[in-house]
Amino acid sequence: MPKIYDLRSDTVTKPSSAMRKAMANAEVGDDVYFEDPTVNRLEAMAAERLGKEAALFVTSGSMGNLIPLFLLAGRGSEVLTHSESHIIQHEVGAMASIAGAIPIAISSPRGLLSAPVLEPLIKPKAYDLARTAVIEVENTIKGVCYPLKTLQDIKSLAEKYNLTIHMDGARLFNAAVATGIDVSHIAKNADTVSFCLSKGLGAPVGSMLCGTQEFIKKARSIRKMLGGGMRQAGILAAAGIYALEHNVGRLAEDHTHAKQIAQTLAKTEWAQLNVDDTETNIIFFSVPKLSGAKVASILSAKGILCSGSGSSVRLVTNLDLNSEDITAVCDIIASTEAKEFTL
Ligand SMILES: Cc1ncc(COP(=O)(O)O)c(C=O)c1O
Repeated sequence: MPKIYDLRSDTVTKPSSAMRKAMANAEVGDDVYFEDPTVNRLEAMAAERLGKEAALFVTSGSMGNLIPLFLLAGRGSEVLTHSESHIIQHEVGAMASIAGAIPIAISSPRGLLSAPVLEPLIKPKAYDLARTAVIEVENTIKGVCYPLKTLQDIKSLAEKYNLTIHMDGARLFNAAVATGIDVSHIAKNADTVSFCLSKGLGAPVGSMLCGTQEFIKKARSIRKMLGGGMRQAGILAAAGIYALEHNVGRLAEDHTHAKQIAQTLAKTEWAQLNVDDTETNIIFFSVPKLSGAKVASILSAKGILCSGSGSSVRLVTNLDLNSEDITAVCDIIASTEAKEFTL
């Protein structure tokens, strides 16, 4: 059996012993009664980091996206988003089935929306038309960071048409570390922002939803409605605090590791990719004539777990893979020959 290197996602990481210790020692209370001091501390910390008035600890990134869509868009109104966004592709249609909103899925290069692409899709106000309500941007999207200017232009557009912006910042801290732009400067360009503690930051559970006091008050109510009111959640919030205090700066290592893998893939005769597309911790590549699933199964047999979808394969570097692991992964890739990828 080869050693297994799990690059399927950055969600596969397990809490470190120091994180588990922080969880075990957490002071707790009933958070539905606002009485969990550790949750309260995490919420204050998240709001402060993002430069927002308030924050709410939610069960998942999906809940962190659904609540703003429910409150800011709602039944019969439209949400402009990228066709490859997580809310379109991987959230079981919650935007339509629970929030009642109509997704307008936009195709544009590298997953990035822009003001010129969005503006023609904003509906004029008319009694027989759906109301365009929300622009949803995902940052990073497939590992790609939004340029700050693009976000600022989208924000100006939203102001012009009185729309709100939700940012799915599941990997917002990856974007901040990769671009060197403080998270608060990025977050300033959206009304509401969600980010995940359970991805690159290495916590086992949970995401944060950030916005104004008024919005978070309403969000708390919708969280309860969705069954997301948690009780002694401080045990989980402690992991989030630990993650924010210890695991943000080190995301740079994941990015360096991803670049190393992308460069190694680019030198092979079988992988197709543009190395510059690997801006953070996610690498996409393809092998001509083979499905992503087939390529993933060939690499998995060699110990590199990855995910394949359509014609592409995704590898995600993460906290549980150190530089020796990445060297080993690169050695496996470099020693794999094109003939091993048969139909
Ligand atoms: C960009 C993005 N948004 C949202 C989510 C949803 O997070 P969760 O799995 O915690 O619901 C994910 C999860 O992979 C994601 O990649």
